[in-house]
Amino acid sequence: MSRIDAIMAQMTLPEKLGQLTMTASGYAVTGPVIAGDSTQAIIDGTIGNLLNMVGAGPVHEMQRLAVEQSRLGIPLLIGLDIIHGHRTLFPIPLAEAGTFDDALWERTAREAAREGAAEGLAMTFAPMLDVSRDPRWGRTAEGPGEDPWLNTRIARAKVRGFQGGDLSAPDALAACAKHFVAYGPVNAGREYAAVDISERTLREVHLPGFVAALEAGVATLMPAFTDLNGVPMTAHVPLLRDWLRAKMGFDGVIVSDYNAIAELIKHGVAADLVDAAVLALKAGVDIDMMADAYRKGLPVALEQGRVTIEEIDASVRRVLRLKEQLGLFDDPYRRGSTPEPEAAIDERRALAREVARKAIVMLKNERDVLPLPAAAARLAVVGPLADASTEMKGPWWGAGEHEPATSVLAGLRAALPRADIRHAPGVAIDGADDNGIQAAVALCDGADAVLLCLGERATMSGEAASRATPALPGRQQALAEAVIARARALGIPVIAILFSGRPLVVPWLAEHADALLAAWFLGREAGHAIADVLTGQASPSGRTPMSWPRAVGQVPIYFGARPTGRPMNPADYYTSKYQDVDNTPLYAFGHGLSYGRFRYEGLEVEPRRVREQDTLRISVRLRNEGVREAEETVFLFVRDKLARVTRPLLELKGYAKLQLKPGTAGSVELQLSCAELRYLGPDLQPVFEPGEVEILVGPSAEPAGLLRLTIELC
Ligand code: BGC
Repeated sequence: MSRIDAIMAQMTLPEKLGQLTMTASGYAVTGPVIAGDSTQAIIDGTIGNLLNMVGAGPVHEMQRLAVEQSRLGIPLLIGLDIIHGHRTLFPIPLAEAGTFDDALWERTAREAAREGAAEGLAMTFAPMLDVSRDPRWGRTAEGPGEDPWLNTRIARAKVRGFQGGDLSAPDALAACAKHFVAYGPVNAGREYAAVDISERTLREVHLPGFVAALEAGVATLMPAFTDLNGVPMTAHVPLLRDWLRAKMGFDGVIVSDYNAIAELIKHGVAADLVDAAVLALKAGVDIDMMADAYRKGLPVALEQGRVTIEEIDASVRRVLRLKEQLGLFDDPYRRGSTPEPEAAIDERRALAREVARKAIVMLKNERDVLPLPAAAARLAVVGPLADASTEMKGPWWGAGEHEPATSVLAGLRAALPRADIRHAPGVAIDGADDNGIQAAVALCDGADAVLLCLGERATMSGEAASRATPALPGRQQALAEAVIARARALGIPVIAILFSGRPLVVPWLAEHADALLAAWFLGREAGHAIADVLTGQASPSGRTPMSWPRAVGQVPIYFGARPTGRPMNPADYYTSKYQDVDNTPLYAFGHGLSYGRFRYEGLEVEPRRVREQDTLRISVRLRNEGVREAEETVFLFVRDKLARVTRPLLELKGYAKLQLKPGTAGSVELQLSCAELRYLGPDLQPVFEPGEVEILVGPSAEPAGLLRLTIELC
C-alpha cells in the first residue's frame, strides 16, 4: 500500500475536508474575509493548508503542530503570493515582460523561489497569466501584457524558475498558474466584473498561456474570480473538468481563489454554501481557499447524496500527492532550515538592478537629450514620484513590504555624487492642492535638465485597483504643464519618467516632454536602475508589452486586432475610424528606444515554400548607426492574409536580441516551426492551410517599421 493510500485509509471525513481547506494566517490580508486562529484546527487535522504566512520560524511552528500534534501527522502546505520577488522585489510582471528575456524571467522566479523556500514556503500563487488589453484593469500590472504568444514564453520560464528541476528540492516551490481563465477582459476594465468573449478569443488569446504552463509541468492552478460567458470559473465544468482535467490530463491541484467558492452565491449560481461547495467540487476544485464552504457544506452535501465520497477522495489524494511531491512527508522542515548566505542576498540585489534596468522603456528621446551629458552639473528632480521609495515597490509586494527600495532621487545622488541635485515634489500623487507647483517651477532656473517624475501610486494598480481614466492623477498634469513651460523658456530639456502599473493615457506629456521613460514599478533597485539609464551607464532596452492608447476610448487597443471590411481611409467617410482620434496607438507594442540607432536590412527567409513539418530560418542584418553601443530587440511577426476566418493583422512569433557597438553591423537569426502557422478554422480545429503568409521583422508592431517577405505554405 502506498503512503497516500495508507493515510487515506485512516482519515475521517473532517480530516479529509481539512486537506481541502486553506486558510489565511494573520500576516497579510488579500481578501475581504479574515481568518481567526487556526492552531487548534491544525492540531485537530481539520485545516491542512495555510496561506499568507512568512518566516521560517512561524512556518515551522505551524508545521510542528500539524506533524507532531495532529493524529495523522500530515504536513501543512503553506503558500504565499510571490508576484515580483519575495523579499527582494523585482520589477512588476508587466515591466518584466518588457525585457523579452526568457532567461531573466526564469532567473527572477528561481531567486524568488529560493528566498520564499528559505522562509519555509512550499507553494506560490504565481505566475499570473492573464492577458490584458485594457489598461483600466489594475491587475494588468501583475501579468504579461497584451500578447498571448509572449504569455506562453513567460509561463514556461516562470514555471521552470519557481519549480526548478525537482519539486522536492529544498529551494523549489509549487507554482500556480492563475487566474484560469480570461480574467483580463473584465467588462469595461472593472475589477471582478463579468467576462463575455467568444470561444475563438478564449482559445486564441487566453488559453495558450495556460497550455504552456501545463506543458512546463505546473503543479497547481487557480480559477479566476470571474464568470466566463455566464459560468463562474470556480464552477466551470466545461473548462475545469472537461478541458483541463479530461482533455489536457491535468491531475495537479486546483486551488480556489480567496473566498471564491462562497462568492458563487453572489454570482447567483449557488443558493447557499452547500450548493456552492457542490458546484466547485464537481467542477474539480480541490482546495477551498478562505470560503470554508467545503468544511461546512460538503458533509451536508454528502448526506444528501449530492456528492460522493469518491469525489472528495479524488481531491484529497491530489492534495496529499502534491505534499508528497514537495517532499513534505519526508522532511516537513527542509524548507527554511538553512539560512541563506549573505552572498546570495547580494547577488539577488544585483539581479534586481539588472532586471530593473532592462525593464525601463525609453518611449521618446528627442534630440538625444538622454543620456544626460557628463557636463550636467545641476539637475532639478521634480514631481511626487521623485522621492517616493515605497512607491517604487509597486503593487502587491507580498513579503517585501518592509524591505527598502531606492527612489530616483537617491539613485541619482548615488550615481552623481558631485552634481547639484535639487528636489521639489510640486504636488502630491493625487489630491487637489497645487500650492507646491511654484516652488517646483523655480527649481528649473539654473538647472541643466529637469527630471519630471510622475505617475501613479503603487496601489493604484494591482487587485481591486481599476481606474476609469488611467491618466496622470491629481494635479500632476498642471505640474507638468507649468514645469515644461518654464523649461522651454529657459531652453533646458525635460525628461519625464512615468511610474505606473499600466500604460497611461498621456498624449500631452508625450508630445511636450523631450524624453519619456516608462519606469513602471521597478522594485527595490528602481532608483539605481533609472540612474544607470539616465547617466548612460546602461542603454535602455525595455520594450512595451502593451500598446499605449492615445485616448481611453480606444481601449481595448492591441496589435493583434482583426481586419475590417472597411479599413481606415481618411478620404473615405464610411471606413473604420474615430472622428476625434487616430486609430493607431501612441506607442505600439514592442516600442522602445535605445542609445543606439539601428537600421534593418537584408531580410532573408528560407525556405520560401514550406510544409507543416518544416522550420523557417529567418535572418536580418542590423547596423548600429548611432554613436553608442546598445542592444536591440528584433521582433518576428506573421500575417496570414487569406484564410477561412479573419486572421489578426499581426501575430507575434519570435524575438531575438543583438548588442552592437556604434558603426558595426551584425545578423539576427530566428527560427519558426511552420506548425506554428496553423490556425483555428471555422470549426475551431487547427488547420495548416496552403497559401501565402507574410513574414515581418522589425523593432516593434508599428507596421511602417517592418521588413516583409512572403512565403508559401503547401
Ligand atoms: C487574488 C489571488 C491571490 C489570493 C491569495 C486573491 O485575492 O486574486 O491572485 O493569489 O488572493 O493572496
